[in-house]
Amino acid sequence: MKADLVIYNARVVGGAADGGPKKGAALAGLTIVGDGAVSVVGGRIAAVGPSAEILEQYAAENAIDAGGRVVGPGFVECHTHVVFAGDRLNEFELKIRGADYLEILKAGGGILSTVRQTRAASVDELVAESRRRLDKMLALGVTTAEVKTGYGLDTETELKMLRAIFALDAAHAVDLVPTFLPAHAVPPEFRENPDAYVDLICREMLPRALEEFRNSRLNSPIFVDVFCERGAFDLEQSRRVLETAKALGFGIKAHVDEFTNLGGARMAIGLGATSVDHLDAISDEEIALLAASGTVGVVTPTVNFNFGSKEFADARRLINAGCAVALSTDYNPGSAPCPSLPNAMAIACRYQKLLPAEAFNAATINAAHAVGLGAQIGSLDAGKRADILIFDTKDYREIAYEFGGNPVAATVKNGIMVNRS
Ligand code: NIG
Ligand code: FE
Repeated sequence: MKADLVIYNARVVGGAADGGPKKGAALAGLTIVGDGAVSVVGGRIAAVGPSAEILEQYAAENAIDAGGRVVGPGFVECHTHVVFAGDRLNEFELKIRGADYLEILKAGGGILSTVRQTRAASVDELVAESRRRLDKMLALGVTTAEVKTGYGLDTETELKMLRAIFALDAAHAVDLVPTFLPAHAVPPEFRENPDAYVDLICREMLPRALEEFRNSRLNSPIFVDVFCERGAFDLEQSRRVLETAKALGFGIKAHVDEFTNLGGARMAIGLGATSVDHLDAISDEEIALLAASGTVGVVTPTVNFNFGSKEFADARRLINAGCAVALSTDYNPGSAPCPSLPNAMAIACRYQKLLPAEAFNAATINAAHAVGLGAQIGSLDAGKRADILIFDTKDYREIAYEFGGNPVAATVKNGIMVNRS
């Protein structure tokens, strides 16, 4: 048979043929093919197996000798806010001097400072600024990324952000999954009447976003998310947004328990959320609900690292309780200015006590499930998109062991080499 590409003489890591996300003890399971190979036909993985077999079966247009190095699926970044304008450098200094994230937001800074800068930017400016961030993520092995709106907080700017996401998806090798997040903060115009803003979201913004998505050429799921937190949206407001979104046909996600437990995890899991994200303050009861559900729990240890905190979401406890845990950087200008998923893995291993294999699965197959794409990406299995990384190591544990660098030697996206260091 003919193949467009065969990568051989590799330690092929990360098959996940069994379907769902890896829960509990299964998260530590990695399939490794010693002297392995991957063949690619038409942008999809055709076969994975021993090098000798694959090389005999396939006549490759392009054959790459991996030199015994690790070959795995592209990383899936399941929670980002990479479309924004400007920076939050002054806030960085304020936080070093002791200021608190939610206090800064209350005083009109934080997310609201990025909202002012984003409202003033054009779609083209947003695309140009965000493209640089996607370039960094791609260089660090991300081949699919979820991207949220949430720095507009008015109908036109939220839709402008969506358009920027669609334009970036079309222009960039990284595939994007859009998430509409008008309930990220209460905009200043509605400070005295947040319920009226929730009305606007439900009545106008969600239907308009859906229309915009349908008119786009984006072939991906679309989600609605909400920041359920003290000083942002309370439980009932969050529920209204997510229930309305669900009724309209959006997938749903929720920022819950980042600082305060408002019952958001229970509510979102009950609504069948695809993911609940952060989980620092989740209760034992909610952990049991999460474990019994089809919802993925996303942890973002880069946020805690960025806050200089010693406390992290108890991902070990989540895994031991049988939850499906995924890992993300939460790349954004305020709580986590970090493009590196390998760095998030490194932090998760040290502070959340994930094993390297668990961190690997959490950043690939489980992250794919956290964006509703578990059947298409996140593992090296026949039929999935040929999003493949060649790592600069012969032992996958080194991906999380070394930190602050780049473990990726080459990236194949949809069967095409897009990045080689
Ligand atoms: O996931 N918590 C809300 N949203 C982001 C932060 C966004 C920002 O600070 O700009 C988060 O931490
Ligand atoms: Fe976030």
